[in-house]
This record gives sequence, C-alpha cells and structure tokens, in this order.
Amino acid sequence: MTTRHFLTLLDLTPQELHNIIHRAIALKKSPTLRDETLKNKTLAMIFEKSSTRTRVSFEVAMTQLGGSSLFLSPSDTQLGRGESIEDSAKVLSRMVDVITIRTFEHAKLERFARNSSVPVINSLTDDFHPCQLLADMQTYFEHRGDIAGKTVAWVGDGHNMCQSYINAARQFDFELRIACPEGFEPNQDMLDANSNRVSIVRNPAEAVAGASLVATDVWASMGQEEERRQRLEKFHGFQVTRELMAHAASDALFMHCLPAHRGEEVSAEVLDDPDSVVWDEAENRLHAQKALLEFLCNAR
Ligand code: CP
Ligand code: NVA
Repeated sequence: MTTRHFLTLLDLTPQELHNIIHRAIALKKSPTLRDETLKNKTLAMIFEKSSTRTRVSFEVAMTQLGGSSLFLSPSDTQLGRGESIEDSAKVLSRMVDVITIRTFEHAKLERFARNSSVPVINSLTDDFHPCQLLADMQTYFEHRGDIAGKTVAWVGDGHNMCQSYINAARQFDFELRIACPEGFEPNQDMLDANSNRVSIVRNPAEAVAGASLVATDVWASMGQEEERRQRLEKFHGFQVTRELMAHAASDALFMHCLPAHRGEEVSAEVLDDPDSVVWDEAENRLHAQKALLEFLCNAR
C-alpha cells in the first residue's frame, strides 16, 4: 500500500476528511478512547518556525495515543548543518513511524515527503496549514452542524491560512469570499481552479454580508517580520470589528488560528465575544490531529 501524506487538504478525499472530523469529535468526548494504531509508535517533529499550539497538540496527542514524540529543532540536528532534505527523510523514516514538519517553502515539505517511507504531515508552510483547517471544520460542525452550502468570509492576508480555506471550500463544499488589500491575494492558480466557489471581494463589509463564519489571521506571518510596519499600513481598514461582524448572519461564528494581535487584524472585543470560538479551535487541534494520526498510520 502506498504511504499517505497530509501536505494539503487535497491529499484526502472529502469523505476521509469528514470521517476524521467525526472521529475527532468522538475522541474529544472520550479522551481515553483509542485504537492501538499509535501504541509504542514515534512521531518525529521537525520545526523550523516557532509554535505553541501545533507542537503541544501533537506531543499530547502522541502521549494520549500510547506513543511518543521527538521534537527536532534544525539547530540541534544535522539538517541545520546542511544534510539534505532527501537524506534526512530517508534516515528518519527508517526509525520513526510518522513525521510532521513546520517549515517555510512548501516545496521543501514535498521533497521530504517524496523521500519518506512513513506518513508526513504538514505542520505549516508558507502556503498551507491543513491541520488548522481540520480543527476549524471540527469547531464549525460542533457549533453549527455541516458547513456545506454556507458562506465563509476571509478578511485579511491571502497567505497560508487563506489558501487552506480555499482548499477547505472545495473539500467541505462552501462558498468563500476573500477581502484582502491589493497585492495580498492568494495564489492566482488556486483562485482560477476554484472560481465556482471562491471570489475576491475587496470590501470587508461586502465579503462578510450574510456570512456564517468570519475568519482572519495575522497581517505579518512568520518569515514576514521585516514587512510588518508596511503591512500594518496596507491592511488598514481590514480589522475584524464588532461593526464588521454586524454585517454577518445573526448566528455567525468568528475564527482565528491564533496567535492573535488584538487591535490589529481583530479587535479585542470580537476575539473575546461569545461568537468567537478561537479557544475551541485551539483545543480541537489536539482531537483532530489524534484522528489524523490514526487515519494515516492505519492507512499504511
Ligand atoms: N495556530 C497555530 O498553528 O499555532 P502555533 O503557531 O502556536 O502552532
Ligand atoms: N499565518 C501565520 C499562521 C500561524 C499559525 C504564520 O504563518 O505565521
């Protein structure tokens, strides 16, 4: 059987993604529930960027599933001293059972996966953050039921989170309206391939009108620190405020992958309002990734 990877949401079928979310909801209800798939197995975690949620959720997931995890910082491994991605993938996959990577270029993750004999999971690249979308979709299902046929508004940078929402729109069958400043659009090929359900609507209030879910992310992502000041100016007017949320459906939810910058991409009030489900999203990283680990390791 070929090794299954999770580099983007498109690596799994819509049915498989739905199954993972239902399993995640069941695992959340019974934290001790587990099959034996991950027992005595090891997850290697290569992180070239900082992380709180992703790191902790994967480590706790492996503990709860009866396995263990190894956190590998490039500064402490030979990867950081120039050993190739290909050689590192071949070596690590001879010893561990599943690998997750947080890095910059998505192509680097793909090269690693091509050379790995065990499943590789994307823990965030400059292009995609699929694990976050599993948690976000689980959160929507828990609060409001199926997201199919709903309208989602993305307000902010067309970067990795926005691009993962484009993939989610396709796999979970919703309409996505993106409000971003000029020059901060997601990948044009992705927009073209999904033009039946994804559109750029410049005006945030128009994008949010009647939406069931409003989501955003930081204006300067990891790796863009030097552009921060310039970005703050360019994104002026794109903050998710209570006034903006008032344009959404009356039962609209607010999501943010976190970490958040209160007073920049989102006002402090919106982040802490009852319709904000950001803490559930954060918790669901644990449950969704447990279900994902089981799925990928069972598929081997
Ligand atoms: N949302 C998210 O991935 O958070 P971390 O950067 O803390 O992992
Ligand atoms: N867009 C953000 C997401 C962090 C989880 C970043 O890449 O830094």
